[in-house]
Amino acid sequence: MSADRKDDHVRLVAEQRAGGPRSNGFDDVGFVHHALAGIDADRVDLGVEVAGARWALPFYLNAMTGGSTATGLINRDLAIAARETGLAIASGSVSAALDDPALAPTFRVIRDENPDGFVFANVGVERSPDDARRAVALLEADALQVHLNAVQETVMPEGSRAFSSWPRSLEAIVEAAEVPVVVKEVGFGLSPRTLSRLRDLGVAYADVSGSGGTDFARVENARRAAGEYAFLAGWGQSTVECLLDAPADAPVLLASGGVRTPLDVVRALALGARAVGVSGAFLQVVLDDGAEGLVALVRSWTAQARALLALLGAASPGDLADTDLVVRGATAEYGRLRGIDLGALSRRSETPESRSSRGR
Ligand SMILES: Cc1cc2nc3c(=O)[nH]c(=O)nc-3n(C[C@H](O)[C@H](O)[C@H](O)COP(=O)(O)O)c2cc1C
Repeated sequence: MSADRKDDHVRLVAEQRAGGPRSNGFDDVGFVHHALAGIDADRVDLGVEVAGARWALPFYLNAMTGGSTATGLINRDLAIAARETGLAIASGSVSAALDDPALAPTFRVIRDENPDGFVFANVGVERSPDDARRAVALLEADALQVHLNAVQETVMPEGSRAFSSWPRSLEAIVEAAEVPVVVKEVGFGLSPRTLSRLRDLGVAYADVSGSGGTDFARVENARRAAGEYAFLAGWGQSTVECLLDAPADAPVLLASGGVRTPLDVVRALALGARAVGVSGAFLQVVLDDGAEGLVALVRSWTAQARALLALLGAASPGDLADTDLVVRGATAEYGRLRGIDLGALSRRSETPESRSSRGR
């Protein structure tokens, strides 16, 4: 059942992506262009510090799969691409292998093919601290992702509907973990209230994983004969909304959900993400063109991200915090309703002198 589910997810994600390119909240975010503010691309360092490590690239392969023969082969291709490009990589939920050790090689392949890379192990929040430890050990993982997926469980035919134990379970995992912990959504977003709760529970990193890309309400609904949860498609906050709305004392933010291009990566970094996860868009390339196709794509994203930072006058991802961002459309409406100062965001590069010369 579990192996079938893993294969279903990959097939349905690919089918639903084939509907064509989707616009999402990232399209509401533009940079103010300053024609004389650029720097030399060869001065740009894309490196970021995440979970106690230095990553060469500010984007990563986010959690997807493992648990069946076919998904083990996908993990092999993803791991080869990670090794060849230096991308950090997350496994899919290791739960299947914790319950059935025969499935362990379909996850372990990520470490075997990528012995020196940065690897996250991934588990659901309902698992015990000991299960989380076994998942980390299986992958010799550098860090642990714990996923929160209440919407997915709700729509999943075989899903759980018992969520009250999650905060306690998460606290126990975080307390016992011997590696850094990232708590992530799976495409429905983390609200300010959730981010504050995570901070109180001792979580150091949170991946908001918002809506706008892979939609597990749609994916799981397609696995129901009657499709009776179609109304939940599109549930949640977009990745951009989550980043705009995040409280100042949130855990260190990672962003994923709907990232399609290097420009989306740079937008998310400018909105405060330390690094940016990509799942559906990279999965599609591996399914179509194998590891080689993904290596080529990651190399081109790397060159393009460097060029974008040069255009924006940012020598490093951290410098993007001073870029002027203009938020329009549905995201601006969300921002206004939530009391977010979008005007200030559009004038972040102004100095006190330039502000006063413009009569502000
Ligand atoms: C086929 C597939 C399987 C996934 N399985 C997991 C999983 O096991 N654990 C998890 O935390 N997230 C899982 N995700 C969610 C992604 O990590 C990510 O949060 C979500 O897909 C949004 O990113 P995207 O729009 O770039 O796909 C999966 C995504 C895909 C496409």
